[in-house]
Amino acid sequence: MPDEPPFPPPTPRVALITGAGRGLGATTALRLAADGIAIAVNDLVPARAEESAAAVVAAGGRAVSVPGDITDPATVTRIVDDVRDTLGPIAILVNNAGIPAGGVALAPFAETSPDDWDAMIRLNIYGVLQCTHAVIGQMTELRWGRIITITSDSARTGEARMAVYAASKAAGASLMRSLSKELGRAGITCNTLSLGTIVSAEVAGTDRMLAHAKRYPLRRLGTYDNVASAVSWLVSEDGGWTTGQTIPINGGYTTS
Ligand SMILES: NC(=O)c1ccc[n+]([C@@H]2O[C@H](COP(=O)([O-])OP(=O)(O)OC[C@H]3O[C@@H](n4cnc5c(N)ncnc54)[C@H](O)[C@@H]3O)[C@@H](O)[C@H]2O)c1
Repeated sequence: MPDEPPFPPPTPRVALITGAGRGLGATTALRLAADGIAIAVNDLVPARAEESAAAVVAAGGRAVSVPGDITDPATVTRIVDDVRDTLGPIAILVNNAGIPAGGVALAPFAETSPDDWDAMIRLNIYGVLQCTHAVIGQMTELRWGRIITITSDSARTGEARMAVYAASKAAGASLMRSLSKELGRAGITCNTLSLGTIVSAEVAGTDRMLAHAKRYPLRRLGTYDNVASAVSWLVSEDGGWTTGQTIPINGGYTTS
């Protein structure tokens, strides 16, 4: 590992965003592309990845679709190799892929079973470990890199009925803290965005979400753009002296 000042950002900068076929990953893809970054759009669902990559291209950006299940190590290796061959070395990784905290995971911990835990642990721990492990070599060669993991405020402060989801998300934030200390000398920053409830414009106006928004000091839920703009700053040169941090984007729901 070099112990010397990082290089300037590579040109073009290439970002791999996992789970970017829809939701805040797709909005982040559009935002980073507008910043001049070439985007590799991963998603488990190929049609989503293709549609999102096409949207970036339609908006004037550069993007490729790299569908696949990031919980599978061979798939992650294939994706990272594909991106390097088509766009160039990966300088930015956004660990965004997720499964909703609801469903079977939204239950008192005592009522869950190991079978219920597996999907969360495989995606939020192994998926993040594998993608991060696979890009470090390329970033180290560039002597410039940005790794951002998207987690939930439930992991930071705890949330009833979300224990397994929260615990699995906490692993990503912990990994970023440790890697910030290992990789800083190579010019690689590692941070976590810890989110409150983020919804699309269509969903924000439903009765359920309007009621939920009353629990937030700002009296509204977060938007995809609130997250994408934070990613944009973290990957910029202006964000380059922030590393090892867990940054809440949560409308003031919790304050420490
Ligand atoms: N939306 C929120 O309120 C909120 C709150 C806290 C944290 N988060 C986190 O933000 C991230 C994005 O959330 P979102 O609301 O946009 O979710 P979303 O469900 O709209 O999008 C997530 C995408 O990840 C993909 N994905 C799932 N498993 C995958 C796998 N194994 N390999 C590749 N792709 C996979 C899905 O196909 C989906 O397109 C997630 O990590 C989520 O946990 C969201």
